[in-house]
Amino acid sequence: MTKKILLIPGDGIGPEIVKQAEKILCHFINSGQLDAELDSAHLGGVAYDQTGVPLPDETIAKAKISDAILMGAIGGWKYDNLDRELRPERGLLGIRGILGLFANLRPAILFPQLADASSLKPELVAGLDLMIVRELTGGIYFGQPRGIEIRNGEKVGFNTMVYSESEITRIMKVAFDIAKKRDGRLCSVEKANVLEVSELWREGALKMSEANPEVELSHLYVDNAAMQLVRTPKQFDVMVTGNLFGDILSDCAAMLTGSIGMLPSASFDENGKGLYEPVHGSAPDIAGRDTANPLATILSLEMLLHYSLNEKNLADTINQAVHKVLDNGLRTSDIMSYGMTEIGCEAIGDAVLEQLD
Ligand code: IPM
Ligand code: MG
Repeated sequence: MTKKILLIPGDGIGPEIVKQAEKILCHFINSGQLDAELDSAHLGGVAYDQTGVPLPDETIAKAKISDAILMGAIGGWKYDNLDRELRPERGLLGIRGILGLFANLRPAILFPQLADASSLKPELVAGLDLMIVRELTGGIYFGQPRGIEIRNGEKVGFNTMVYSESEITRIMKVAFDIAKKRDGRLCSVEKANVLEVSELWREGALKMSEANPEVELSHLYVDNAAMQLVRTPKQFDVMVTGNLFGDILSDCAAMLTGSIGMLPSASFDENGKGLYEPVHGSAPDIAGRDTANPLATILSLEMLLHYSLNEKNLADTINQAVHKVLDNGLRTSDIMSYGMTEIGCEAIGDAVLEQLD
């Protein structure tokens, strides 16, 4: 059966990085290695410019019928003063919510070729292979009530961090399953010394642990977890945490690997349907200059082929090609180091393409 892949380039550097992944997909399709058809849709600022909303109905419809989605990034300064409902971020949160993409996997893997690019000492990060499982459709990002209102003559802003038992259980199940396939160690991150919602989170982790005694479960408060991540990151195998803490910790983990420009992510619904996107944002400051690093998007395509299309061989081919490109000393500016050759986004895409066969 021909698989449907939806490309959502988005804003800023989104179009240029997604184009590099698209070139790889077209190569696989044209050479008969992959039976898939591509479609594209708008999300974020570009969707607002064209239709007046950041998440058009057409994009939702296309996303629903696709087998997998590859996204670039959304957002830009020119949208900062729009009503919150119309901002690009609402488009992204909207599609995560509507598709029920509750489980966000953010691997932080250090490519040995880039050990020098990390801000930590090479020995602290050498061999780093950590998976952050972030809950993506609940918590303070979606909790009600929320708003800004006048109380006692002044403006007050408020949001609600809320998790139900069932939301906690389903993300714990994903995290425990992943830990079982890896090194069997899971660290649950919350703020149970202060927040009730975290107390329930910890309870859910402990309950799931009873049914999965082979996984070694630990707990950390989020402030300590942030500290441990930059102190001895290799102590972690899998971390599971809520939406806001996961947003913050995954940027932190990304930087351990040298550049956030290297990190892919995958988000799944209850049936395993996936949306894949780089962890980094739309970087409007460098958009259109052909200097963005497309590797996080290319590695997101690797995850898409592996998890949604069951094309493990093609996924591995991409991974090996990325390694060869780095072995050959080719770098975008974000991962540039002494003695390497700096090239642009398009050229890195071409270099990966060249290594595929
Ligand atoms: C991310 C991003 C988004 C988030 C923004 C763009 C809404 O930072 O995917 O990590 O906060 O989830
Ligand atoms: Mg983020």
